[in-house]
Amino acid sequence: MATRQRIGLIGAGRIGRGHARTLAGRVPDAELVCIADVSADAARAAAESVGGVPWSTDPLALIADPTIDAVVIAASTATHAPLIAAAAEAGKAIFCEKPVALDLETTDAALAAVERAGAPFQIGFQRRYDPAYARAKDLIASGALGRIEHIRDTMRDPAPPSRAYLEISGGLFRDMTIHNFDCVRWLMGADPVEVFALGAALTDPVFAELGDIDTSIVTIRFANDALAVIDNSRRSGFGYDVRTEIFGSAGALLIGQQAETPMLRLDAGGVRSDHVRFFLERFAVAYEEELRAFVRALIEGRSPEPGPADARAALQLAYAAEAARAANAPVDPRRWG
Ligand SMILES: NC(=O)c1ccc[n+]([C@@H]2O[C@H](COP(=O)([O-])OP(=O)(O)OC[C@H]3O[C@@H](n4cnc5c(N)ncnc54)[C@H](O)[C@@H]3O)[C@@H](O)[C@H]2O)c1
Repeated sequence: MATRQRIGLIGAGRIGRGHARTLAGRVPDAELVCIADVSADAARAAAESVGGVPWSTDPLALIADPTIDAVVIAASTATHAPLIAAAAEAGKAIFCEKPVALDLETTDAALAAVERAGAPFQIGFQRRYDPAYARAKDLIASGALGRIEHIRDTMRDPAPPSRAYLEISGGLFRDMTIHNFDCVRWLMGADPVEVFALGAALTDPVFAELGDIDTSIVTIRFANDALAVIDNSRRSGFGYDVRTEIFGSAGALLIGQQAETPMLRLDAGGVRSDHVRFFLERFAVAYEEELRAFVRALIEGRSPEPGPADARAALQLAYAAEAARAANAPVDPRRWG
């Protein structure tokens, strides 16, 4: 059994810089040995920010390095599938940011390479490692809530992203709701069998121009007949809005106190607090915990989670939501299985 994992990081943008900090000092038994980004400026800046680890502009050279045990892929989405396939063929364990790809064909080809190689693989659905969501899952699994009957999952971004981002995002369901699809499926512990979706473009004309939506409601029925509702928006107007309510026969859980600073100010003007800004702040702990879990699984010889089937299942639900919205009728997501 390995005792220490030598890790190469590919992609040093917004999310990759955070993973660099985590891997460089906050994961027991991990050593960050190289950072590769096609942008020399990005690779150098990330490497310098963590005390000068080696960096390169050649991700394939990093993958070919026989001294590296595992790669963390945090480059732009379009690079994930080819990098996953190359890393699997080189015998590396793989952590990849969501999504594997924006379509099922490319996703399936990359995950087939993972399976052929028998490579350990984890997808970056970090919510599963947020302390509140992880505790909720434990409470559900222990039976403390009784039979889970309904989950209500909300996510609103503070403000719409740029047009350039939206043009290659894959649309609301594949880019944003994908986190909620994984979340409700994981919490429910059952497979979705029916999906219905409504969408609208309300916050900015760019969404209609691109044939995209910025506001949506998705309803899901699971194989155990329990229900979930997911609502998303690209704009809250007040900060990052992530709340989940889980209702069981023996109790409920409400996840998502949203103040950045744990303080309420009460005076003649009312009750005020600040508000969590965006995902990097809200899920700071989860982004660290998911990498600790990845390395722990490798060292203990377990399959890391969430794995390939979870990565695919979330995208499958995005396809189902798109089809349901287009048909204005419920669809069975297993059609894309
Ligand atoms: N889990 C989450 O909550 C979450 C949040 C944000 C982003 N993401 C995902 O993380 C990925 C990166 O997002 P981001 O916001 O950091 O983007 P970003 O644009 O800030 O960074 C992407 C980086 O990848 C680099 N890059 C592009 N092609 C490359 C290649 N072939 N090899 C190496 N590096 C390459 C770019 O130069 C850039 O530095 C995306 O897939 C995104 O979906 C996940």
